[in-house]
Amino acid sequence: VGDLTEADLAGKRVLVRADLNVPLDENQNITDDTRIRAAVPTIQYLIGKGAKVILSSHLGRPKGVTPKFSLAPIVPRLSELLGIQVQKADDVIGPEVEKLVSALPNGGVLLLENVRFYKEEEKNDPEFAQKLASLADLYVNDAFGTAHRAHASTEGVTKFLKPSVAGYLLQKELDYLVGAVSSPKRPFAAIVGGSKVSSKIGVIESLLEKCDILLLGGGMIFTFYKAQGLSVGASLVEEDKLELATSLLAKAKEKGVSLMLPTDVVIADKFAPDANSQTVPASAIPDGWMGLDIGPDSVALFNAALDTTQTVIWNGPMGVFEFDKFAVGTEAVAKKLAELSGKGVTTIIGGGDSVAAVEKVGVADVMSHISTGGGASLELLEGKELPGVVALDEAVVTRSKL
Ligand code: 3PG
Repeated sequence: VGDLTEADLAGKRVLVRADLNVPLDENQNITDDTRIRAAVPTIQYLIGKGAKVILSSHLGRPKGVTPKFSLAPIVPRLSELLGIQVQKADDVIGPEVEKLVSALPNGGVLLLENVRFYKEEEKNDPEFAQKLASLADLYVNDAFGTAHRAHASTEGVTKFLKPSVAGYLLQKELDYLVGAVSSPKRPFAAIVGGSKVSSKIGVIESLLEKCDILLLGGGMIFTFYKAQGLSVGASLVEEDKLELATSLLAKAKEKGVSLMLPTDVVIADKFAPDANSQTVPASAIPDGWMGLDIGPDSVALFNAALDTTQTVIWNGPMGVFEFDKFAVGTEAVAKKLAELSGKGVTTIIGGGDSVAAVEKVGVADVMSHISTGGGASLELLEGKELPGVVALDEAVVTRSKL
């Protein structure tokens, strides 16, 4: 968007794909408006240049037209943030929408209905993409959270609208998750957690090529422990990933990456918030007990390693942080990264549960970057190309070449 000037934009109809897929409670109240706030800079910029903004998003995974997946609940909050009344269409394409677009003043914003009300969206149907594209003169993709989907509104429309460019949010996500990770200020540490090694294989393999230090936490560590011959009691283990765990440890050695596993763990007698718990060395997990968090010695070890770094990326919790009793390790990482951020270290929170943890601790604002993408950040960290990005005109993505 930054490259588009007033001359390009005044009076132009701009189709903006944002990811306004925010969580709603049973009364349709927004429980986390992060993605709406993140969409504001691009829209604000376009309004300021006198463009007519046609805003598109999905919400949830509806099967056809489903009122509870309407984008209507987004309108009040978005209007408040933009300081103008956002108009809302009841459809995505068609004559009614066209009428609303023609009536849109320069600097106005029209929010289209949930684009997934049409099954053609997820099928990336060219005819549907063309109809959507015909509403506008040019296209801005700012929906980072959906950039890993080759859908009509993220990929298909680019074939019919020129130029197709990246918005500020999409660009910032690429700058951090591709730019800062590919040419980091060193030492560069990656912290990877989560319950299963199987869902993080790609991320670990890709980060092993780039980082100097790799800290592992979360349920996946027990697969690594078992692969090293330790007893893991009733902890979660992916038996079919033991060889893989061994090969990842070997690969770290070969690449000269300092891979650290927690040295102590908090174990529980059942998987429940009120379970009995104790802290034991990683080598002393008794039968019947399961590890649900990393212990204080591991936190100290990780903190000391992190103190040496200039760039840190974090993806995945250190334990079962939705249970307060087992959230200590995850919260300690969030606090440590906040402290490092204050000292000028680049801190990147790569989507999903780690974002929730950072928000729970109340340190979201101090991080260098918090990704708005779950699946999209994972795919990017795995080194994959995102169809929604690849489809954009080359010139706008050069800063973060994939
Ligand atoms: C997300 O929440 O990760 C994005 O909005 C994408 O949603 P999807 O997984 O339903 O495509």
